[in-house]
Amino acid sequence: VSEACLEHQLATAVGAEHVLLDPDRVASYATDWTRRWTGRPLAVVRPGSTAEVAAVVEICGALDVPIVPQGGNTGLVGGGVPRSDGGQLVLSTSRLTRLDPVDVAAAQVTVGAGVTLGELQRHARAAGFSYSIDLAARDTATVGGTVATNAGGLHVIAAGDTRAQVLGIEAVLADGSVISRLAGLVKDNTGYDLAGLLTGSEGTLGVITAVRLRLAPPAAQSPYVVLVGLPGIEAALPLLRQSGLTAAEFMTDAGMRLVVEATGLPRPLPHDHAVYLLLECTGEPMLPEDVEAAVDQRLWAYREGHTEAIATRGVPHKLDVSVPLARIPALLADLPGVVGEYETYVFGHLGDGNVHVNVLGPAPDDDRMDDAVLRLVAAHGGSISAEHGIGVAKTRWLELSRSPTEIAAMRRIKAALDPRGLLNPGVLLP
Ligand code: FAD
Ligand code: MLT
Ligand code: ZN
Repeated sequence: VSEACLEHQLATAVGAEHVLLDPDRVASYATDWTRRWTGRPLAVVRPGSTAEVAAVVEICGALDVPIVPQGGNTGLVGGGVPRSDGGQLVLSTSRLTRLDPVDVAAAQVTVGAGVTLGELQRHARAAGFSYSIDLAARDTATVGGTVATNAGGLHVIAAGDTRAQVLGIEAVLADGSVISRLAGLVKDNTGYDLAGLLTGSEGTLGVITAVRLRLAPPAAQSPYVVLVGLPGIEAALPLLRQSGLTAAEFMTDAGMRLVVEATGLPRPLPHDHAVYLLLECTGEPMLPEDVEAAVDQRLWAYREGHTEAIATRGVPHKLDVSVPLARIPALLADLPGVVGEYETYVFGHLGDGNVHVNVLGPAPDDDRMDDAVLRLVAAHGGSISAEHGIGVAKTRWLELSRSPTEIAAMRRIKAALDPRGLLNPGVLLP
């Protein structure tokens, strides 16, 4: 590739000020949130419209330059940062900030891929609605990123994952063509569900430029948020049978201590407990009389503080997995046997059977412990990725969760939509 030629064409397409080449300016686009995955972009380009995205994709196609789409760069599996060979262009969606008025009659909205989750939530609230997907990275994670990863978050138990909110997508395909289905038709049986296919495709099938999303009516009153101290995870499972449950998150003593140390928050309950369960309910949850519990919206801070608190301890290996709910106690009992002496924090979305295993100690490129944990999860009938995606972190183990026939079908889809492998090569498919 002639870098001067690429730079000139990109500058013509999006404006020279939106083509970043200076190592200082591209640094924040080159390393992921965890700091485990780092690369070297050929350049970073920030198109300001769908037409500009299409132009960038066409230029890259003509010059054979692979593209890594990037939103807020809060992804946790290394899929949004370039690889280390210096040959990939980062396409940042940060300027795709279209924010259409809420369609009140339909309870829907169309937003640009670069709008943050927090901006979308505020926009929906201002119109008397809410957007059901929520996660601690809300002020940085983008709508496009959450759709590309099919993000889960804190309310999947009640509202489903991102895919359940997506009614339509506009995207630029690998040949520069644009598909656009933003009408928000609730019923539309006219063939393959391309929006569903692009949701969770992790930047490998197209660059998502805008999304039509389902909104929910706001809760009639503030929900109850209860933190319960328990002797073990077994005691948590029966407490999930609550009516009006909108979140059920678990933490352990080690994680709670770390969050208290990192944030300076007081310990949340008078005594220490092996396990903490945070329940959010539309009504008052039913709890056994002998448990220690506190009720306060602000208790979310202990749960949401986990990711940042863990990052203060080093570069974690983050293994986001799910197993059938009834297998969670067995999985947690087996984990110490495979992680050994490494500093480990487990927490997660208990109601979804989703455990976040965070291990500190192994070098970033030493994946022996990852291998052991993911094989353990597979042996328990689980998934190697519950909500964060495959990225570059887990391609090696995709076969533990997908059959050879499924992987072959996925490869054929990739080959049909991106025959030259220009979009996020190395991500998702091994
Ligand atoms: P990026 O990190 O920029 O990209 C993620 C992937 O999507 C990459 O493969 C990238 O190529 C692709 N991509 C991004 N934008 C586009 C686009 N417009 N078109 C095509 N491909 C694109 N995740 C959860 O699921 N649940 C949680 O509860 C949760 N909590 C988190 C809490 C913290 C503190 C942090 C740091 C992360 C958390 N995450 C969680 C992970 C992360 O926030 C999500 O994966 C989020 O969806 C990523 O959005 P992003 O805009 O940062 O995407
Ligand atoms: C969470 O649930 O907080 C996120 O998925 C982030 C993480 O796993 O650290
Ligand atoms: Zn999570």
